[in-house]
Amino acid sequence: MIGKESSLQNFNIKAFQKDLLEWYYANKRDLPWRKDQDPYRVWVSEIMLQQTKVDTVIPYFHNFLEKFPTVHALAAADEQEVLKAWEGLGYYSRARNLQHAVREVVEHYGGQVPDNPKELESLKGIGSYTKGAILSIAFNQPEPAVDGNVMRVFSRVLNIDDDIALPKTKKLFEAITREVISHEDPSSFNQAIMDLGATICTPKSPACLICPVQEYCQGYELGVEQQLPIKSKAKKNKKMPYAVLLIRNEQGEIAIEQRPDDGLLANLWQFPMVPIQEMSVELIENWFYAQYGMRINLGEKQADLKHVFSHLTWELNIFHAKLEHDTRKEEKIVFVTEDELNSYPFPVSHLKMREYL
Ligand code: ADE
Repeated sequence: MIGKESSLQNFNIKAFQKDLLEWYYANKRDLPWRKDQDPYRVWVSEIMLQQTKVDTVIPYFHNFLEKFPTVHALAAADEQEVLKAWEGLGYYSRARNLQHAVREVVEHYGGQVPDNPKELESLKGIGSYTKGAILSIAFNQPEPAVDGNVMRVFSRVLNIDDDIALPKTKKLFEAITREVISHEDPSSFNQAIMDLGATICTPKSPACLICPVQEYCQGYELGVEQQLPIKSKAKKNKKMPYAVLLIRNEQGEIAIEQRPDDGLLANLWQFPMVPIQEMSVELIENWFYAQYGMRINLGEKQADLKHVFSHLTWELNIFHAKLEHDTRKEEKIVFVTEDELNSYPFPVSHLKMREYL
């Protein structure tokens, strides 16, 4: 691994900052979380932007801030309401952790988002990236906010071929950013790198010819920009086959259940799912009876769809079913009308199933 000292040899930091910032001031994207430097708004935007593209986030950001305009509003909200506002964005633990952390800000910090690293990183869901983003963007502190985009930009500019999947490589890029970041305008500097990564120094076919910092880019000079960054492959994604049951009772209402309060998609709602190895109608019906105390009559398969998470893939086989006999002892499943479905937060894969109802 190359150290930050050798990476930065002959690198003209001041000139790089100047050209990058001039480009940013003239070309920065007009994004709703850039209207001011309110730390709560910056925080919400950065959590939403993890794993999710800017264009997808914008309408969610508007809606979320309208529903929960302050830390106090979010702290006081019902978790189901928060999950509903997050519905479709994915990675729902982000929303639960955000609310958990905001409640702590209200209880322990008088509703003021902390402006120092120690207190910020003690909050749930705030890791090194989010901490640096809040400190720099909202509080103008020269702190690194290094994510995959930032590592791509700097790996090219400085021709660094360390594996960006490794934690120590992220640390290297944080150390480099500390050296390179503008102390006059750290907020704009970090956002400029983000914009450069999103619009010019893109993963495929970067637009080097119009890049404002092309003259500093060692990757470009050596013609290796397309080979950078180096990233080792993630582990194989495990396949999980399920039958998903769209069960109606005699009144035509539909069965839904809430997922457990921890783990994948915690506390969201779904149509009941039966893990399957083979597609046998009888096995599915019997498994369902044993598990839920409800006799169902399985109908035709309607469709199948795949949903890929970061670490596993659901293979969902969608069936209609009729409730025949109900001997439930506990109300794990509730029956609701189609209209009532709208008030429950569902994961994206189950939202898609509603067209088969
Ligand atoms: N990606 C992550 N954070 C961002 C921000 N603040 N602006 C634009 N893109 C981003």
